[in-house]
Amino acid sequence: MRAALLVLFVVSVAVGHMAMWHPSAFDPEQQNNNANGNANPLADMDYNTWWWHSNLNSPPNATYWAAKNQRLGLTKNAGTVFEIPANGVFDLDLASNRAFTQWGWTGKYTVDDPRAAPNPWKDSEFANVTNAHASKRMDVAGCAVGIAYKSNRFDIKPEDFVIFTVEHDCPARFLQNFSTPNLPACPNNMCHCAWFWIHKSIGGTDQMLPIEPDIQQYMTPFQCNVVNSLANAPQIDYANARAPRKCANPSDCVQGPRHPMIWKVNDQDDNMPQPGHNAPTYSILFGFKNGAQRDIFTTTNPVPKTNKPISTEVICSDATLNPNKYGYRISSNGKSSFTSSEQLVSPSGAFKAVLQGDGNLLIYNQSSSGGAIWGCSCNQAGSGFKAQITNDGLFQVVNGSGYVTFQSKMTQNFGTAPYRVELTDKGVLVMYDSKGLDLWESWLWDGSDSNGFDPLTPDPAVWPTYNDLAVINGNSGDVSSLLPLFLLSLGAVMAIL
Ligand SMILES: *[C@@H]1O[C@H](CO)[C@@H](O)[C@H](O)[C@H]1NC(C)=O
Ligand SMILES: *[C@@H]1O[C@H](CO)[C@@H](O)[C@H](O)[C@H]1NC(C)=O
Ligand SMILES: *[C@@H]1O[C@H](CO)[C@@H](O)[C@H](O)[C@H]1NC(C)=O
Ligand SMILES: *[C@@H]1O[C@H](CO)[C@@H](O)[C@H](O)[C@H]1NC(C)=O
Ligand SMILES: *[C@@H]1O[C@H](CO)[C@@H](O)[C@H](O)[C@H]1NC(C)=O
Repeated sequence: MRAALLVLFVVSVAVGHMAMWHPSAFDPEQQNNNANGNANPLADMDYNTWWWHSNLNSPPNATYWAAKNQRLGLTKNAGTVFEIPANGVFDLDLASNRAFTQWGWTGKYTVDDPRAAPNPWKDSEFANVTNAHASKRMDVAGCAVGIAYKSNRFDIKPEDFVIFTVEHDCPARFLQNFSTPNLPACPNNMCHCAWFWIHKSIGGTDQMLPIEPDIQQYMTPFQCNVVNSLANAPQIDYANARAPRKCANPSDCVQGPRHPMIWKVNDQDDNMPQPGHNAPTYSILFGFKNGAQRDIFTTTNPVPKTNKPISTEVICSDATLNPNKYGYRISSNGKSSFTSSEQLVSPSGAFKAVLQGDGNLLIYNQSSSGGAIWGCSCNQAGSGFKAQITNDGLFQVVNGSGYVTFQSKMTQNFGTAPYRVELTDKGVLVMYDSKGLDLWESWLWDGSDSNGFDPLTPDPAVWPTYNDLAVINGNSGDVSSLLPLFLLSLGAVMAIL
C-alpha cells in the first residue's frame, strides 16, 4: 500500500521522463526505490554533463544489489553486469521511475502485464507528456541499445558506441524485449552498453505542450557482457561506423554500423543535423530496421567502399509540370548551381524547387495549390543568389560575393566527392556523395515526415536482410546475394550447436 501511494505521488510530480532501470545501470540514486533522476532528459549541456548521464562516477554497487535482490527474490539477469545473449533476446525495464519496475520496493511491477502496451493508451504512464512523450499510441518513436567494446568506462567516447538493437515500438511498455545479433565476446568479460531514446517532437500541435516542445534525448549507460557468443563471431565494424542519417525514401537509406544519435546537447557534440521540431528517431525514417542490427559487422557492413554509378538524369517531359524542361540535379562535378531564373523539377514533375530573387529557396508541391512545403528561410536583401553544391559537400545559397545565407549542416567532407543534390518525388532535396550515401535531406515544414510515421509499420521491403552468421571473411552478408554462403554457414552453426 505504501509503495502504491508513493508511486502515485511520484507520477503526479514527475519531471523525469524515461530511463532504463537495472542493477547494472550507472546511477547516483541506486539505493532509492523512488528514483527518477536517471530519467531526466539531456539537452543544452556541456559534454561532461550529458555524457554518461553525468554518472561516470556512480557505478553499480554490487554489494547493495546482491543483498536487495536476495531480499526481493530477483534472480534472473539481476547482477551488476547485464548479460546480453548473442543471437538471443534480453529484457529491459523502462519507466520514468524505479518504483514502476521490479527493481523498486517489491520486486514486482505496478501493472499486471509489464510486457503489454497500455490499452487504452490515454492517461497511461506512457501516454503522459512528461514521460514517454507520446500522447497518442502512434506517436511512439523508437528506442535502441548501443554497445562499446571497452571495459574501462573512462576510455569510452560517444563514437565507441554502435547501436546493435532497435525497437520501433518503444518506449511503450515497462518490460521491453530486444533481440541481439551475432555479437562477439567482450574484452575481460566487460563491455559497456547504453539505452538510447529520442522522442518525436510533435512541434506545432498541442501534443507536447505545455513544456519543452522540441526536446530531447535519453541515455542510460550500464555495465554489460555478451554471453553465449560464438568463437568465430565477426567484430563490429567500429572503424566505419557513422552517424545515422534521415532517408525519406527507404531506398536511399544507408545502413550499417551507426553511432547513437546525439541531438541538441551542444553544437560540438551533436551528430544529427535535424533542425527545430524535427527530432531524429530510432525508426524507419532514419534507416533503422526493427530488432537486431545484423549489418553492423565487418562481414556485413553494406556501406559501399567504391563509387556507385549515378543514374542518368531523365528530365520530366510533362509540358504542364515542367514547361522549361528543368532537371532535378546539381552536382559538384557537373552543373553545380541554379539561379532564380531556373528551377529544379522532380523526376515525375510532382515537386519543384524555386530560388527566389531574394535568395529564398522553396519547394512546392505541384499537385497542391497550397504554399511552399519547405524553404531555407534565408531570404536576404539584395539579388544575384544561387543555390549550389560545393566540391567539399556543402549545399548552400550564396550571392556573388560569397555571402552564404543557407548551408546544409554536418555535410562538409562527410562523404566522398563528387557530391550532388537532387529534388526527389517525395518533395525532398537529398544530398548524395559518390558512393550513393544519403548525407542530408530537407524536411517538411508541417513535420509530417518526422512525426507522421507509426511504430508498427513493417520494415520496407526494399531493405536487404543480412546474415551475420556468415563468418567467411571478405564476403558481404547480404543474404539476397549470398544464398550458397548462407547455407554453408548455416551448416557451420548447426555443427557448433
Ligand atoms: C554500496 O552499498 C553498501 C550496502 O548498502 C554500502 O554500505 C556502501 O557504502 C555502498 N558503496 C558505495 C560506494 O556507495
Ligand atoms: C517480445 O515481446 C512481445 C510482447 O511484448 C512478444 O509478442 C514477442 O514474442 C517477444 N519476442 C521475443 C523474441 O521474445
Ligand atoms: C496522466 O496525466 C493525467 C493528467 O495530468 C493524470 O490525471 C493521470 O493520473 C496521469 N496518469 C498516469 C498513469 O501517469
Ligand atoms: C502534395 O499534394 C497532394 C495533393 O494535395 C497531397 O496528396 C500530397 O500529400 C502532397 N505531398 C506533400 C509531400 O506535400
Ligand atoms: C551579398 O550579400 C551581402 C550581405 O547582404 C552584401 O553585403 C553583398 O553586397 C552582396 N553581394 C552581392 C554581389 O550582391
